[in-house]
Amino acid sequence: MKRYLPFILLFLSPFAFGQSPIDVDKEFAFAAQQYALMLKSHPDTTKFPQSTKPDGSPDDRTSDWWCSGFFGGSLWHIYEHTKAPVWKAAAQKWTMAVAKEQYNTGTHDLGFMLYCPFGNGYRLTKNATYPPILLTGAKSLSTRFDPKVGVIKSWNKFQNYNYPVIIDNMMNLEFLFWAAKTSGNKEFYNLSVTHADNTIKNHYRPDYSSYHVVCYNPDGTVAARKTAQGYADNSAWARGQAWGLYGFTVMYRETKDKKYLDQARHIADFYLNHPNLPADKIPYWDFNAPNIPNEERDASAGAITSSALFELSTYGGPSAKTYYQAAVKMLESLSSPAYKANLGENNNFILKHSVGHKPQKSEVDTPIVYADYYYLEALLRYDTLRRKAKS
Ligand code: GLY
Repeated sequence: MKRYLPFILLFLSPFAFGQSPIDVDKEFAFAAQQYALMLKSHPDTTKFPQSTKPDGSPDDRTSDWWCSGFFGGSLWHIYEHTKAPVWKAAAQKWTMAVAKEQYNTGTHDLGFMLYCPFGNGYRLTKNATYPPILLTGAKSLSTRFDPKVGVIKSWNKFQNYNYPVIIDNMMNLEFLFWAAKTSGNKEFYNLSVTHADNTIKNHYRPDYSSYHVVCYNPDGTVAARKTAQGYADNSAWARGQAWGLYGFTVMYRETKDKKYLDQARHIADFYLNHPNLPADKIPYWDFNAPNIPNEERDASAGAITSSALFELSTYGGPSAKTYYQAAVKMLESLSSPAYKANLGENNNFILKHSVGHKPQKSEVDTPIVYADYYYLEALLRYDTLRRKAKS
């Protein structure tokens, strides 16, 4: 980041010296109040906050659900900003609640489940009990990489296909890079690079939008390109574009290989220049949903994209300012009453209006735990960039 500091200072100056559109302290004060209520309504650490059921009641899940790490991760975000011991204690408790998933070899989602809580917790506290749990988890995750296919398997089965890989899987690689550095085992690094290269090759269309699911044959050739959560096989499911953008930004951070930076920039440009991206920059759940503008927005995609664009903006280039300003706009929109809940409402989640799985009519226009996680992360990144620009 240091290398780009003069550049960041230059393009942040209108923001740094003008009025910030977002009051980070105020947003974290609200998040703390809302999540204090969430902690109160969730005394049992086997029931993880996830979303809202169609009848309006809280939808909780168990630790083996792919989202189990986000609540603990969000508590770490609140601790990072507030530095208050009460948040550290809560974060530790909800982090350890996911520990048994380190042995779970039946899912590719261990990056989300383990690295969001344990990774943030270790970064902030250096708790020596966390790395062994993370490293066991990284080994479990890497059992899903078949070198003959060259990608980490996402689900065990999708329709008639036995090796489906979803774009979301790019989000696991940050965890594996950490594992490579911590253990000295280069395999974690190598398999991440192979997975990312095959994802560029097979998941992306010429316009840099992404398929959701690529189904592989045992020899690594592509059997089919599909969607599960998007509108259509050929559509651009909004959260999938966000996962890819975030994932390739991390690839550049970890490898410094320019091809990943180019990929992230192309994805960002597809997203930001899309004619169906609304003025508030929070996308519809699918860029090609059939009834736009009468389709649900996906606040989670907006939050993930905002966070990713803040990082991408630090890597310079002619669009850095555009990425930064778009990330701020997204954060501003999410912090407005259009998306942010009132205290004590929304089953104590921070953000409203996400879409989990529209084709299955699941989590449509509801709060979802990962929208809050990436929103808080984006707030932290915004705060860090502004502080750097001022200092
Ligand atoms: N990883 C699943 C999703 O983004 O909904």
